[in-house]
Amino acid sequence: MSRIDIAKVSEYVKRIYDADRTGHGMDHIHRVVGLCKLIIAQEDRADIDPDIILTAAYVHDVIDPKVVDDTVIARANLRAFLASISISDNDIAEIFDIIDHISFSKNIGARHELSRNGQIVQDADRLDAIGAIGIARAFYYGGKHGDVLYDPDLPVRTLGDESSYREHTSVINHFYEKLFTLTDALNTDAAKRIGELRNERMRSFVDNFINEWNGQA
Ligand code: ADP
Ligand code: NI
Repeated sequence: MSRIDIAKVSEYVKRIYDADRTGHGMDHIHRVVGLCKLIIAQEDRADIDPDIILTAAYVHDVIDPKVVDDTVIARANLRAFLASISISDNDIAEIFDIIDHISFSKNIGARHELSRNGQIVQDADRLDAIGAIGIARAFYYGGKHGDVLYDPDLPVRTLGDESSYREHTSVINHFYEKLFTLTDALNTDAAKRIGELRNERMRSFVDNFINEWNGQA
């Protein structure tokens, strides 16, 4: 029996995405929730709290400036909503700790020590950035931001801080700068197994892309 009414959390998040016109989809949230369940099923249940994990997975992007205009208001709204469905102060604190620290961009400088619950949400979010879905998301992002597919003269950057991460690059460079590094950064064994498969798919895609770019059949 779960402590948290996950269906209510899902409805809350869906309402926010329904109002969103920036192209951030609830589809990513559904995949991250699904990946969390896949990881939970394969991991030792000690120190795992599925209620916290699934709630954090649902809400992990609703306080992000990519999705909402005013993050201060979004945080206050989220906190009030979680309290309104009787989630305890301790649980709310852990949910915020997770969603404040899982993102790649916020971890470029300092690495925050996440709880095991947080590690699982972070793994699921990262897994959705790689593999076939990751390829599709990268080109979707590049198209929206006007980036080129590929430019052999554009050097691959080492990402020093969040501002350099947000500078323009080619979509193919993004694989080298971020996506190929994600599998090694995964926390749980279950996610590492999925990550290996997805990383192979991206490698094969990028190898084929560059071969075709260079005129091969
Ligand atoms: P996070 O919230 O973890 O910082 P991002 O906003 O950086 O995530 O990324 C969202 C999606 O857009 C991911 O699938 C990511 O790979 C993709 N993306 C981010 N930056 C780029 C880029 N410069 N080129 C192509 N895809 C990108
Ligand atoms: Ni996400």
